[in-house]
Amino acid sequence: MSTVLLPFPAQRRLAEELAPLLGARLARLDWRRFPDGESLVAIDETLQGADAVLLSSLHQPDTLALALRFAAATAREFGARSVGLVAPYLAYMRQDRRFHPGDAISAPLFAAFLQEGVDWLVTVDPHLHRIDRLDRIFRIPTRHVAAAPAVAAWIRTEVAHPLLIGPDGESAQWVAHIAALAEAPFQVLHKERRGDRDVSVSLPDLAAAAGRNPVVVDDIVSSGHTVIETLGHLARLGMPAATVVAIHAVFAGDAYADLQAAGAARIVSCDSINHASNAIALAGLLAPACREHLGADLHAMARTPAW
Ligand code: R5P
Repeated sequence: MSTVLLPFPAQRRLAEELAPLLGARLARLDWRRFPDGESLVAIDETLQGADAVLLSSLHQPDTLALALRFAAATAREFGARSVGLVAPYLAYMRQDRRFHPGDAISAPLFAAFLQEGVDWLVTVDPHLHRIDRLDRIFRIPTRHVAAAPAVAAWIRTEVAHPLLIGPDGESAQWVAHIAALAEAPFQVLHKERRGDRDVSVSLPDLAAAAGRNPVVVDDIVSSGHTVIETLGHLARLGMPAATVVAIHAVFAGDAYADLQAAGAARIVSCDSINHASNAIALAGLLAPACREHLGADLHAMARTPAW
């Protein structure tokens, strides 16, 4: 049985690290857009009997989704016996309820779309909040990898006397895990969101922060406003300039420049999304989760979603 890793172009660097860990052959997947916006996907044709693994982060899901389905279907046409998806960033997970009358609940709809194309999914720290487990929305086998060991190792090496700060209630799950592994204290703030770029965040506890270097950790940094609000509080309280750690560097629009201008001492991210801030490698954590699927009886692992 052979494993063939087919990375979307933005994921080639991660693929070069992941392929040897999987004992996989790294193969061609080209994707380009025609002037009218249509996609052309071209992949390696020698997939007969292989376990194909597509690698694509999904931070621009509306442009990627069709290309992904085309790649999966074409891999099957070329004889792949299974097609898995490693999506280090899984999109649409924040749309986990109907926030306003008439809203689509996109998280389960996007899950349904993905699982029509692939046999299994591996992702990193999906935004599990009101949907608290992936198998509530996926019936294919899924594994989610925690970035915490890699993030904690980075913090231990790079930040002396850290105080981890999570900007909202959802972040508690990631921040508490990272803090435990980094043997550092942590605080979780409260966030109120009024709009896409209109958020307020509660004040950190200054007394507990004395002598510490703040590290703001969020799973997804999108507009950056959640972290910018938090950095503003830290500056007003006279705390040292904070390190910002994003698990998923979505950085929509000018978010990265805005964060730099907001006074972050350093901004780093995991390499779930290819970005200049990537400093924390995930291949070593992704590989064991992929291997579980590659050796498994996929039918036995399949679940019925509870959605
Ligand atoms: C949502 O609760 C997430 O954990 C992040 O805090 C959120 O996605 C950040 O979004 P933004 O960067 O747009 O404020």
